[in-house]
Amino acid sequence: MNHQDDSFKRLKSMAMQACENAYSPYSKFSVGAAVTDDGGNAFAGCNVENASFGMTQCAERNAIAAAIAAGCRAGSLVTLLIYTPGDTVHPPCGACRQVMHEMMANGSRVISCCDGDGSREWARHEHLPDAFEFPDNR
Ligand code: THU
Repeated sequence: MNHQDDSFKRLKSMAMQACENAYSPYSKFSVGAAVTDDGGNAFAGCNVENASFGMTQCAERNAIAAAIAAGCRAGSLVTLLIYTPGDTVHPPCGACRQVMHEMMANGSRVISCCDGDGSREWARHEHLPDAFEFPDNR
Protein backbone atom coordinates (compact mmCIF):
# COMPACT_ATOMS: atom_id res chain seq x y z
CA MET A 1 0.00 0.00 0.00
CA ASN A 2 1.38 3.37 -1.02
CA HIS A 3 2.11 5.74 1.86
CA GLN A 4 0.49 8.54 -0.12
CA ASP A 5 -2.83 6.70 -0.46
CA ASP A 6 -5.69 8.33 1.42
CA SER A 7 -6.64 4.97 2.91
CA PHE A 8 -3.07 4.44 4.21
CA LYS A 9 -2.99 7.95 5.70
CA ARG A 10 -6.39 7.49 7.32
CA LEU A 11 -5.52 4.12 8.87
CA LYS A 12 -2.10 5.31 10.01
CA SER A 13 -3.56 8.41 11.61
CA MET A 14 -6.19 6.33 13.46
CA ALA A 15 -3.56 3.80 14.58
CA MET A 16 -1.25 6.58 15.79
CA GLN A 17 -4.07 8.15 17.77
CA ALA A 18 -4.99 4.81 19.36
CA CYS A 19 -1.30 4.21 20.11
CA GLU A 20 -1.29 7.39 22.19
CA ASN A 21 -3.87 5.69 24.42
CA ALA A 22 -1.98 2.42 24.77
CA TYR A 23 -1.83 1.07 28.32
CA SER A 24 1.64 -0.45 28.40
CA PRO A 25 3.24 0.38 31.77
CA TYR A 26 5.06 -2.98 31.92
CA SER A 27 6.62 -3.34 28.48
CA LYS A 28 6.62 0.39 27.71
CA PHE A 29 5.99 -0.73 24.12
CA SER A 30 2.95 1.04 22.68
CA VAL A 31 1.12 -0.29 19.65
CA GLY A 32 -1.80 1.10 17.65
CA ALA A 33 -3.83 -0.66 14.99
CA ALA A 34 -6.67 0.22 12.65
CA VAL A 35 -8.75 -2.05 10.49
CA THR A 36 -11.25 -1.40 7.69
CA ASP A 37 -14.20 -3.50 6.59
CA ASP A 38 -15.50 -4.03 3.07
CA GLY A 39 -17.81 -1.02 3.47
CA GLY A 40 -14.90 1.34 4.19
CA ASN A 41 -15.65 1.68 7.91
CA ALA A 42 -12.55 1.88 10.12
CA PHE A 43 -11.93 0.84 13.72
CA ALA A 44 -8.91 1.35 15.97
CA GLY A 45 -7.32 -0.43 18.91
CA CYS A 46 -4.29 -0.19 21.16
CA ASN A 47 -2.51 -2.66 23.40
CA VAL A 48 -3.85 -2.96 26.95
CA GLU A 49 -1.55 -4.66 29.45
CA ASN A 50 -2.28 -6.09 32.86
CA ALA A 51 -0.29 -6.88 36.00
CA SER A 52 -1.25 -10.47 35.24
CA PHE A 53 0.88 -10.34 32.09
CA GLY A 54 -0.93 -13.10 30.23
CA MET A 55 -4.11 -11.02 30.22
CA THR A 56 -2.47 -8.45 27.91
CA GLN A 57 -4.45 -7.66 24.78
CA CYS A 58 -2.63 -6.69 21.59
CA ALA A 59 -3.60 -3.63 19.57
CA GLU A 60 -4.53 -5.70 16.51
CA ARG A 61 -6.98 -7.92 18.39
CA ASN A 62 -8.51 -4.92 20.10
CA ALA A 63 -9.07 -3.17 16.74
CA ILE A 64 -10.68 -6.35 15.39
CA ALA A 65 -12.84 -6.64 18.53
CA ALA A 66 -14.00 -3.02 18.06
CA ALA A 67 -15.00 -3.85 14.47
CA ILE A 68 -16.92 -6.95 15.55
CA ALA A 69 -18.63 -5.04 18.38
CA ALA A 70 -19.74 -2.42 15.84
CA GLY A 71 -21.40 -5.13 13.74
CA CYS A 72 -18.73 -6.17 11.21
CA ARG A 73 -19.03 -9.82 10.26
CA ALA A 74 -16.15 -12.28 10.52
CA GLY A 75 -14.45 -12.36 7.11
CA SER A 76 -15.44 -8.81 6.16
CA LEU A 77 -12.25 -7.03 7.30
CA VAL A 78 -10.01 -6.09 4.39
CA THR A 79 -7.03 -4.04 5.60
CA LEU A 80 -5.36 -3.95 8.99
CA LEU A 81 -2.58 -1.47 9.71
CA ILE A 82 -0.21 -1.68 12.68
CA TYR A 83 1.73 1.32 13.94
CA THR A 84 4.60 1.33 16.42
CA PRO A 85 6.50 4.48 17.36
CA GLY A 86 10.16 4.69 16.35
CA ASP A 87 12.09 3.70 13.26
CA THR A 88 11.58 -0.06 13.33
CA VAL A 89 8.73 -1.91 11.66
CA HIS A 90 7.31 -4.73 13.83
CA PRO A 91 5.42 -7.71 12.43
CA PRO A 92 2.29 -8.93 14.29
CA CYS A 93 2.52 -11.68 16.90
CA GLY A 94 1.37 -15.23 16.19
CA ALA A 95 -1.77 -14.98 18.33
CA CYS A 96 -2.95 -11.95 16.36
CA ARG A 97 -2.21 -13.74 13.08
CA GLN A 98 -4.53 -16.56 14.12
CA VAL A 99 -7.32 -14.08 14.95
CA MET A 100 -6.70 -12.18 11.69
CA HIS A 101 -6.99 -15.47 9.83
CA GLU A 102 -10.52 -15.95 11.13
CA MET A 103 -11.78 -12.38 11.06
CA MET A 104 -10.21 -10.92 7.94
CA ALA A 105 -11.29 -11.55 4.36
CA ASN A 106 -9.60 -13.96 2.03
CA GLY A 107 -6.97 -11.88 0.19
CA SER A 108 -6.97 -9.14 2.82
CA ARG A 109 -3.79 -7.20 3.61
CA VAL A 110 -1.85 -6.54 6.79
CA ILE A 111 0.54 -3.58 6.88
CA SER A 112 3.01 -2.62 9.57
CA CYS A 113 4.55 0.83 9.73
CA CYS A 114 6.39 3.14 12.09
CA ASP A 115 7.61 6.74 12.15
CA GLY A 116 10.21 6.06 9.48
CA ASP A 117 9.56 5.58 5.77
CA GLY A 118 9.76 1.78 5.97
CA SER A 119 6.77 -0.52 6.09
CA ARG A 120 6.00 -4.17 5.51
CA GLU A 121 2.93 -5.72 3.98
CA TRP A 122 1.58 -9.26 3.93
CA ALA A 123 -1.41 -10.99 2.42
CA ARG A 124 -3.31 -12.55 5.31
CA HIS A 125 -2.62 -16.12 4.13
CA GLU A 126 1.09 -15.33 3.73
CA HIS A 127 1.88 -14.68 7.37
CA LEU A 128 -0.01 -17.71 8.71
CA PRO A 129 0.25 -20.62 6.32
CA ASP A 130 -1.62 -23.74 7.44
CA ALA A 131 -3.73 -21.83 9.95
CA PHE A 132 -5.89 -23.80 12.36
CA GLU A 133 -9.57 -23.80 11.50
CA PHE A 134 -12.26 -25.42 13.61
CA PRO A 135 -12.98 -28.85 12.13
CA ASP A 136 -16.44 -29.13 10.60
CA ASN A 137 -16.44 -32.94 10.59
CA ARG A 138 -17.74 -33.25 14.15
N1 THU B 1 1.86 -6.22 21.16
C1 THU B 1 0.86 -5.83 20.31
O1 THU B 1 0.03 -4.99 20.67
N2 THU B 1 0.81 -6.41 19.09
C2 THU B 1 1.67 -7.36 18.63
O2 THU B 1 1.49 -7.89 17.53
C3 THU B 1 2.82 -7.75 19.43
C4 THU B 1 2.87 -7.21 20.81
C5 THU B 1 1.93 -5.62 22.49
C6 THU B 1 1.64 -6.59 23.62
C7 THU B 1 2.40 -5.95 24.77
O3 THU B 1 1.57 -4.97 25.37
C8 THU B 1 3.56 -5.25 24.11
O4 THU B 1 3.23 -5.14 22.73
C9 THU B 1 4.89 -5.99 24.26
O5 THU B 1 4.77 -7.30 23.84
